[in-house]
Amino acid sequence: MKLFKTAATLQEHLQKLKKQGLKIGFVPTMGALHNGHIALMKECKKKSDIVVCSIFVNPTQFNDKKDFEKYPITIEKDIFLLETNETDILFLPDVDEVYKEGIHQLQHFDIGYLEKILEGKYRPGHFQGVCNVVVRLLKCVQPDVIFLGKKDYQQYLVLKTMMDKLFPDIQIIAVNIQREKSGLAMSSRNARLSINARKDAAVIYKKLLFIKRNIFKKDFNLLKQDVAEDLLSHGFERIDYIELCDASTLLSTQPVKTKKMIILVAAFIEGVRLIDNLLL
Ligand code: PAF
Repeated sequence: MKLFKTAATLQEHLQKLKKQGLKIGFVPTMGALHNGHIALMKECKKKSDIVVCSIFVNPTQFNDKKDFEKYPITIEKDIFLLETNETDILFLPDVDEVYKEGIHQLQHFDIGYLEKILEGKYRPGHFQGVCNVVVRLLKCVQPDVIFLGKKDYQQYLVLKTMMDKLFPDIQIIAVNIQREKSGLAMSSRNARLSINARKDAAVIYKKLLFIKRNIFKKDFNLLKQDVAEDLLSHGFERIDYIELCDASTLLSTQPVKTKKMIILVAAFIEGVRLIDNLLL
């Protein structure tokens, strides 16, 4: 695996590969890699010739400074995982390399109502930070295809909205959520949980499945209330939302048999904010 810390050296290398007609696949990450990321790499390997991964903990997407400071950094382990999972190139820039004009000179992206709902409502500015970093990374890597996880489903829709306008030639592939045996969605944030909280947090997936089973049998508000009570009795201290949405727009919906729907949850356990979702 080749490692580059600057955009210039990365681009010089990628230009040579592109001239050979090789298809470049890109997996952007913030490190603290787990099997969810590995699934992205594997999909990338299947669908492209060259796997480029970036590790960059993007300061502009953390609306909560403490969350940024506590973000797990496991770079040695990450490099080992990438090397053993067929990654060809790792881009590991620092903040000054990505934000040459400083982290306060951000571009504004029009992502419409997606910025104000669900994650956007609870994490103001988050998606502007995500768009800013992904645009910068895309300009450096200029991939043919980018791989994004469905756990951050709203992020996927936000990036699709932005990229359809600014990078229409780059294909986007969304990869399914990877789960622990318990059902807990894999996330870098899980590393911050105690063993007990990790066990308790698996209740989110159980309740997502419970909603799925009952969506056309019971009133959604009653289902929501049941789920909220169960999360709170399993050690969750705060619930930001439990929503049923249209999967293509993320607008809130009533259960409709003909519609592709998604249930999304965001809740805190041991001060760690977890998100999960289930497509119906
Ligand atoms: O999903 C993530 O890990 C990040 O939001 C991303 C897309 C790498 C941008 O920093």
